[in-house]
Formats: sequence, C-alpha cells, structure tokens
Amino acid sequence: MNVRRMRTENGTLIFRIPPDQVSSPEAAALLSEAAALLRSGETVVFPTETVYGLGAVASSPEAVRKIFAAKGRPGDNPLIVHIWEPEQLFAVGTRVPDTGAVLARHFWPGPLTLVVPVGPDIVPEVTAGLSTVGVRLPAHPVALALLRQVGMPVAAPSANLSWRPSPTTAEHAVHDLDGRVAAIIDSGPTAVGLESTVLDITLSPPTVLRPGGITREELEDLLGMGIAEQLSAPPGQKPRSPGQKYTHYKPKAQVRMVQGTAEIRLAGNPGPGAVAGAKRVAAPDFAPLAQAVWDRCVRERRRSQHPAILATEETLPYYWACGARWESMPPVFTGPLVPAGAGKELEGVWLFNLGSRADLHQIAAHLYTCLRLLDAVDATVAFAEQVPAQGIGAAVMNRLRRACGGLVWDPLAGSESEAGFPGF
Ligand code: TXA
Ligand code: MG
Repeated sequence: MNVRRMRTENGTLIFRIPPDQVSSPEAAALLSEAAALLRSGETVVFPTETVYGLGAVASSPEAVRKIFAAKGRPGDNPLIVHIWEPEQLFAVGTRVPDTGAVLARHFWPGPLTLVVPVGPDIVPEVTAGLSTVGVRLPAHPVALALLRQVGMPVAAPSANLSWRPSPTTAEHAVHDLDGRVAAIIDSGPTAVGLESTVLDITLSPPTVLRPGGITREELEDLLGMGIAEQLSAPPGQKPRSPGQKYTHYKPKAQVRMVQGTAEIRLAGNPGPGAVAGAKRVAAPDFAPLAQAVWDRCVRERRRSQHPAILATEETLPYYWACGARWESMPPVFTGPLVPAGAGKELEGVWLFNLGSRADLHQIAAHLYTCLRLLDAVDATVAFAEQVPAQGIGAAVMNRLRRACGGLVWDPLAGSESEAGFPGF
C-alpha cells in the first residue's frame, strides 16, 4: 500500500496513509491537508487502534454538529474527545480525580476513555450537555500525527452511520459516509476491532460504562481495587452513558446467540509427532451441537430464509462436515477452511469464521467485519457462537448481546429465550 490521494464520485477525499509510511514527505503533505480541513471546521475520518473515528474540532459547535448530521446520531449521545499528550486531560477535563493520572500514565496511548468533569473549552454539543466529558489518547501513529498537526482536541465518535457496526476498515467508513464527510484517511484494518473501554472515574469506585480494549482485570490490577460495571441503565433510571440506550450493531438478520458455546473444548493440539502446521479443532463432543445448528439452518432455508452461522476457526469444520456430508470429521487441518473475518456459502448456508478461540483478540478484531458481511450477503437469520466473557471476551460478548437484542437459542433443548441476558 502506497501513500495516495483520491476523490470519490461523491466528493469525499481519500488519503491513503499506511501506518509505516506516516513519516514520509508524501504522508506529511496529506496529513497537513487533513489537519487544515479539520481546523477550518470540516469533518475527517481517521484511523485509531480500536475503530475509525469521525473527527471535528471539539471547540466549534458548527463543526461538531456536522458529525451528528453525517452519522444521523441522536443529539443526546455525547462524543469522545481525542488528545495527543496525556497532560491535555487536565485542560479538556477539570478537577480530574487522582486515578486519572495513574490510569493515563499506564494505559495511554491506548483503548481507554476516561470520563471526567468537563472543562470550559469543550462546547456543550460535544458532551450533549452533560457535566462530564470522555477523553482518550489513541495508540495509532496516523491518529497521533494528525492530532498533533491540528493542534486542538478533536471530538470523534465511531465513523459509521448510527445504527451500523463501527468501522474497522476505511472501506466500512466509505460505505457509510461517502459524500457525507470531507475526507477519509485509509490506514488499513484497525488492530483492536472493538471500541475503547469507557471508564467513569467521577464515580467511586470507578465504573466501566462500556467494556472494550482495556479489560476490567487490567484496570483492577493497576488500581488495586474493585471496579464497578454499569452496562445498562438501572430500571427506571437514565443511563450514565447515553449510548447504552441505543441498539447499536444490529445487522438486518435476526441474530441469536447459541447456548452452550461459550466454552468449547478443543482437541487436536499439535504435539510431538503431529502433522506439521496442524490446527486445533473443537473436541468431538461438539458434533451434536453443530448438527443441531446446521439442521436449524436447513429448516430456515426451507422457509425461504437466508441462514448464516457465526462460527470460530476451531468449530467451523464441524458445521462444514454437516453440509458437505462428510462421513467423519478429519482429525486435523493444516489451515482454516474459511479465513478469519470472511465467509463461504455451503448448501445455501453462510459460514463465517470470527477467528480462533485460542486468541479472543482475533475474534474481537473480526466481529464487526462479520456483522457487516451478514448484511452484504443478505442473511435474514444468523446463529452466533459465544465466547468466554473474560478479558477482551467481555467486550466481544457485550457487542454480540446487542447484535442479538438479547436473544439466546438452545439448540439441544429447542427452546428460545429472550430473557437470557439482563438489560434487554
Ligand atoms: O474506541 C473508541 O472509543 C472510538 C474511537 C473512534 O475513539 N470512539 C467511539 O465513540 O466508539 P462513540 O461515540 O461511537 O462511542 C462513545 C460512547 C457512547 O456510548 C457515549 O454515550 C459514551 O461513549 N460517552 C461519551 N461521553 C460520555 C460521557 N461524558 N459520559 C458517559 N458516557 C459517555
Ligand atoms: Mg459508535
């Protein structure tokens, strides 16, 4: 990928800046053009380590209003302010609790947003009138170079239309926002793939409002104290984080989480004497569950539905074995049947590989791409495996629950529960 400048038919500028070429003279020229657009009150999409952001300077009400218009975002949902030096936390915010400096020193640059009392330079359009502001210092060389050039804090929500999954590639942002923003910086796929952890440090104990790239375990380890979690509004109360009341991440397909898939035993661990490059697969006791999910997909097909399965690298061969009518599961594979973050159709059923269960970060990185692909292949029903809700898995499960609207299906019992998860 080389540095390039293009313009779409709808008038949006595309600046292609590979992260490893951020210091080249060509990239510097594009970054100063993008920074000038932002300073003049325009909107620019830029990469971060989590997802792409839709930026505008945080001190201009007109510029910030353009963000809400481009996304179709409800005006009561506040934006995160992006900075490039940790000390700026104390200018964007005010009366920052002591934990702020400790957390910033340890986790910034990185996928952690700190909610602190808002300072005087941030316009109310950014905070949706709240007395607090979310602040974050992203760990992405292109984002940091851009922010430094702009020289002012930049408000940026995820660069998607309001009801769509956050963009993890520039193509996703172009799909949603072409013609609605001045420019989009394309630096390839983002590393984390899910949004930052939102931590309200004005509360005692500090409270996670949205799980994300920095895990609760990491926060508790550093602070040496328990962290609270408030991921949806308590009954009858307003949510602390207005974003919690909107159903994001919902594909057109009705997605159900598959009961009994959070923990799946793996087999075929390549040990001494194993086939070179052999991959692990789910243990054989997963086969009946895979068969039940496959049978349901076949039934959905007969009802003229377009079914899809959001599987993982280790489980996908089992569904494939059902559709391809294999006599038995081959015990080892030397590579994935479907690449991570992609799908293939078999007998009218779309099979997606979210990534390997051996590394939940991979699943986090591919989740939104797969949710967008459900729409792209016109899936009308989908069945999603769960993952253990530990570490980054907590953020994956949080987004999956939202994509499913809380629907859980138990293939072995045949029951469907809409009350499987609180908050829906
Ligand atoms: O990783 C990220 O955080 C990405 C990248 C672009 O930085 N940004 C992002 O922004 O995900 P957005 O607007 O899509 O999500 C921000 C979330 C919303 O749920 C919003 O309600 C919440 O953070 N939020 C923002 N300011 C807040 C505040 N002062 N108090 C409570 N929640 C806040
Ligand atoms: Mg968003």
